[in-house]
Amino acid sequence: MRLAVNIDHFATLRQARESDEPEPALAALLAEQAGAHGIVCHIRGDRRHIKERDLRVLRQVVKTKLNIEMAATDEMKRIALDVKPNVVSLVPEREEELTTEGGLNVTPLQSQLRPFIQELQGSDIHVSIFVDPDIKQLDTCLKLNVNLVELNTGKYAELKQGPDRERALSELQAAAAHGRKNDLEIHAGHGLDYRNIHPVAAIPEISEFSIGFAIVARAAIVGVKTAVQEMLALIS
Ligand code: PXP
Repeated sequence: MRLAVNIDHFATLRQARESDEPEPALAALLAEQAGAHGIVCHIRGDRRHIKERDLRVLRQVVKTKLNIEMAATDEMKRIALDVKPNVVSLVPEREEELTTEGGLNVTPLQSQLRPFIQELQGSDIHVSIFVDPDIKQLDTCLKLNVNLVELNTGKYAELKQGPDRERALSELQAAAAHGRKNDLEIHAGHGLDYRNIHPVAAIPEISEFSIGFAIVARAAIVGVKTAVQEMLALIS
């Protein structure tokens, strides 16, 4: 079970004052030193937090695995081919959203996604798609020759303990099992925190979690090292 730390909100804090502190790359290095297995960031069309400059610095300093989340646009493809992260995660993006609102609905986008994915894979970039825990979406990812997906845990994370949350958890379990059976590598993330991680960490088919906001919020109080180590202890 691995932990990839999303560092976007260190950049959000920096942009709150349009300053040059805190340095997201420094947070990435501290997270790695604390045991994180990868670093994730999302370059958005509006550049509200992570900028191209951050990607270049991160590419130079990240020693584990750099995963850049992006929308499948020509602009983002150019950036990916230039920066060459280890992984590109394709996500949906809406300008007004506070955070990613759901998985990418891959089924109607197949003809647009296919050449995008092929070009990245041809440059040795591992492509992941962020999808809702829905078997049809996973099957479409397989048709697109993608062997890594990140299951959206957002719906599960938004619910309070009770039958609805149990149902959301069952959807994640079923999707993870279906994906593994078909040789997909299964990651998961969105909205996970120190209180809701336990039941999803118990899903054996999930090999990596991508967690951002909760770790950054905790790091503001206890420091990056402790915040990452506390999460690592919960998922292992
Ligand atoms: N996975 C994806 C695809 C995301 O877009 C995000 C948010 O950027 C995360 C995981 C992390 O979500 P959170 O910040 O709620 O932990």
